[in-house]
Amino acid sequence: MYSGGIFLILFITCQMLGSQSQECVSRQDVQSTLRHVHKLLSAHETSFLHRVRTLRKKLNLLHNTTVKHRSNIGTGTNSTQICLPPNPPVNGRMLGQVFRVGHEVHFLCNPGFQLSGPETRECLDSFSWSGEEPTCKMVDAGTHNIPTSSTPTYVRPSRCIEFQGSLHCTCEQGYSISSQERGLCTDIDECELYRMTQTGRLCLHTCMNTAGSYYCQCPTGYSINIDNRSCQDIDECEKGVHNCTKEQVCVNTFGGHRCMVVECPRFRNASYIKTSPLLCERNPCVQGNKACLQAPVSVNFHFMSVVSNMSTPRVLFRVSAARILGDAMRFELLGNRGAGHFTLQRSSRQSGELLLTEPVQGPAMLETEVEMIELEKRTLLGRYVTKVTLFVSPYSF
Ligand SMILES: *[C@@H]1O[C@H](CO)[C@@H](O)[C@H](O)[C@H]1NC(C)=O
Ligand SMILES: *[C@@H]1O[C@H](CO)[C@@H](O)[C@H](O)[C@H]1NC(C)=O
Ligand SMILES: *[C@@H]1O[C@H](CO)[C@@H](O)[C@H](O)[C@H]1NC(C)=O
Ligand SMILES: *[C@@H]1O[C@H](CO)[C@@H](O)[C@H](O)[C@H]1NC(C)=O
Ligand SMILES: *[C@@H]1O[C@H](CO)[C@@H](O)[C@H](O)[C@H]1NC(C)=O
Ligand SMILES: *[C@@H]1O[C@H](CO)[C@@H](O)[C@H](O)[C@H]1NC(C)=O
Repeated sequence: MYSGGIFLILFITCQMLGSQSQECVSRQDVQSTLRHVHKLLSAHETSFLHRVRTLRKKLNLLHNTTVKHRSNIGTGTNSTQICLPPNPPVNGRMLGQVFRVGHEVHFLCNPGFQLSGPETRECLDSFSWSGEEPTCKMVDAGTHNIPTSSTPTYVRPSRCIEFQGSLHCTCEQGYSISSQERGLCTDIDECELYRMTQTGRLCLHTCMNTAGSYYCQCPTGYSINIDNRSCQDIDECEKGVHNCTKEQVCVNTFGGHRCMVVECPRFRNASYIKTSPLLCERNPCVQGNKACLQAPVSVNFHFMSVVSNMSTPRVLFRVSAARILGDAMRFELLGNRGAGHFTLQRSSRQSGELLLTEPVQGPAMLETEVEMIELEKRTLLGRYVTKVTLFVSPYSF
């Protein structure tokens, strides 16, 4: 189980970011992951040492009883040292079959009943049981005591074997020996256990503890991955489970989808035609119509889906001229739209890159317009506009 945790850590750190980037863990992430693994191992070590100590105590006890035994034989006193079997409570049961001095028995109640009295009784040197005889009382239906009624599934008897006068108990997978009662196993809350290790979480999203195990849940719009732990976005557009009309463009987002309407722009003295679902091109201008020539030659629509809180700066996409007629290209954010989140940088003579400059917490939708201007001897040859819409998911996956 612990090695499973370690594999998970490496997987999750490489997961993230979705389709936009292949960039993986930073050095900081790796260091923090290693710190968490360290913590896990120390926890493991502590529990191991604890078990060794318990074993040593048992050995001591064993040694003491053999010594006592010998002295008993010497003095000829009663050496069987057995208590009478106690009565299991009505509507409950008793765990433990060894009734010798120093041994314990444990009591459990059936679902719907609550134990009153000691959970454990010990066979004393006086050959009588410690404490009072416990009873099982019906849980008052009016108190809505849900944990009590569901408790029994989270507690199971341990399997014990007696070896040289000492009891050795083990539990099924997912359970550990109760801290109060050796004869009982209590469910390990894996979700709680791993909560301390943020990056090494058992589940990418929600962890649900069950009796003896756990499972992971994803938010709507995601399906659980084959690893049963991480979440995978459902592509509603590809699967055809969307409500978009024929005129709309289905855009898959992390955790959902959007139906977008692509409308060609209106400029004075220029008209456009949609030449593909995401592209509008200007109709030829009437000779000498300056207003028409100033209008963008084409308007491109670009829809992008990203996860929340992406590390930045990050290149979202690159615009480049397919062919160059003029002698210069200029790139800019049209009207400084979205300037708080984006910048544009030149990546070559004929291409520019749109960058996200700061992490964005989702859910959010950001828009900007990138303009590419082609010049010949400082006079305008053409403007090409790309309208960018960024959908940021509510989650970091
Ligand atoms: C065993 O006996 C020794 C000495 O009589 C005592 O100190 C020790 O606590 C005993 N151990 C146990 C586990 O009872
Ligand atoms: C030992 O004690 C048990 C129960 O106290 C009793 O039934 C038995 O007769 C005793 N045996 C001897 C040898 O004293
Ligand atoms: C995922 O869960 C299913 C059913 O609970 C199980 O059969 C399968 O082995 C699990 N896969 C992994 C990788 O744990
Ligand atoms: C599609 O529309 C129907 C009715 O308006 C609605 O019940 C359903 O949830 C919608 N489905 C999606 C995927 O939006
Ligand atoms: C727009 O077109 C009309 C008629 O085609 C023309 O008269 C007018 O001057 C044009 N406007 C500009 C700003 O070029
Ligand atoms: C966003 O990411 C940074 C660094 O990766 C992290 O420290 C911060 O907690 C995250 N914020 C949220 C709201 O997830």
